[in-house]
Amino acid sequence: MTGTVLVTGGAGYVGSHTAKALARAGYQPVTLDNLSRGFAHAVKWGPLEQGDILDRAFLDDVLARHRPHAVLHFAALAYVGESVTDPARYYRNNVVGTLTLLEAMRDHGIPLLVFSSTCATYGLPVRLPLDEDHPQAPISPYGASKLMVERMLADLGAAHGLRSVALRYFNACGADPDGEIGENHDPETHLIPLAIGAALGSQPKLKIFGTDYPTQDGTCIRDYIHVTDLAAAHVAALRHLEAGGASTACNLGTGAGLSVRAIVTEVARQVGRPVPAEEGPRRPGDPPELVADPTRARQLLGWTPHCSDIESVISTAYAWAARHHNRAAP
Ligand code: UFG
Repeated sequence: MTGTVLVTGGAGYVGSHTAKALARAGYQPVTLDNLSRGFAHAVKWGPLEQGDILDRAFLDDVLARHRPHAVLHFAALAYVGESVTDPARYYRNNVVGTLTLLEAMRDHGIPLLVFSSTCATYGLPVRLPLDEDHPQAPISPYGASKLMVERMLADLGAAHGLRSVALRYFNACGADPDGEIGENHDPETHLIPLAIGAALGSQPKLKIFGTDYPTQDGTCIRDYIHVTDLAAAHVAALRHLEAGGASTACNLGTGAGLSVRAIVTEVARQVGRPVPAEEGPRRPGDPPELVADPTRARQLLGWTPHCSDIESVISTAYAWAARHHNRAAP
């Protein structure tokens, strides 16, 4: 099946890469985005409907005009630190906004949803790697807001037949290998673009948050998953639902972790300059290690990462940064 699909947050990082993957797979992606954090120039594979998921009249109008058979829901605020200082904003946007969307889908008879969830719904790991049955005990309002939506999906599924796949991303990274889109966060808080920016001189010195973790080199370990692999997983999840598959949640990660120092070393190697860095204290709320068990996504969706090796991650992120953000680019 192909056809029109609604992509909320399609002007953002993962949403825009998924819109490209959807178009390549033969779908017509319609992006709905309020452009508060996304960019109109990242919407290249279908129309942009500019507005907010909290605006029910706007949702009704968009759904009535485009009549999508499925929704891929990326629109959300996604800074862990900001969610701690302004939790109400996160609950309003991520929870009330999603509820508004789900009610509109119910009333327009749209039965399929792929939802951007996060490994932040797990909280502090009690075992590694994290499988989907690991207890979900988020430690930030951001993670809690995503877990609340997962619960709403289960309840609306039972009551109204909504079928959904919640995709729990680990660390999204990299950029479109064709260079058409990439990562543009403002402010940027993520390790890889900050390390590349520091090496290029377009960002200040990198602060390494904690060197006394119980890991091999003392820095945090994360499971970095290329945004193009994330995009492919969304198409696979959509096909799973279209084929009549049951609602589920799947981790999206590689199953292997990399330390902050390993990332910094690879950035320096590829940029050909050292990454100016200073070692600092731990960032509150950072678990020492987060690594996915991606078995379910492989078995159920037939998904495996193809470009999440560290070399491809850094080379695509570097190419994007050098072209778009860096005054000192070679
Ligand atoms: N880090 C630094 N210096 C920086 C930025 C990050 O040392 O300037 C370290 C962090 O401590 C962490 C690693 O680099 O160990 C990765 O940090 P990011 O900020 O890039 O990503 P996070 O792991 O904090 O965040 C990701 C997702 C969130 C999700 C979270 C779950 O981006 O959406 O994992 O913990 F909620």
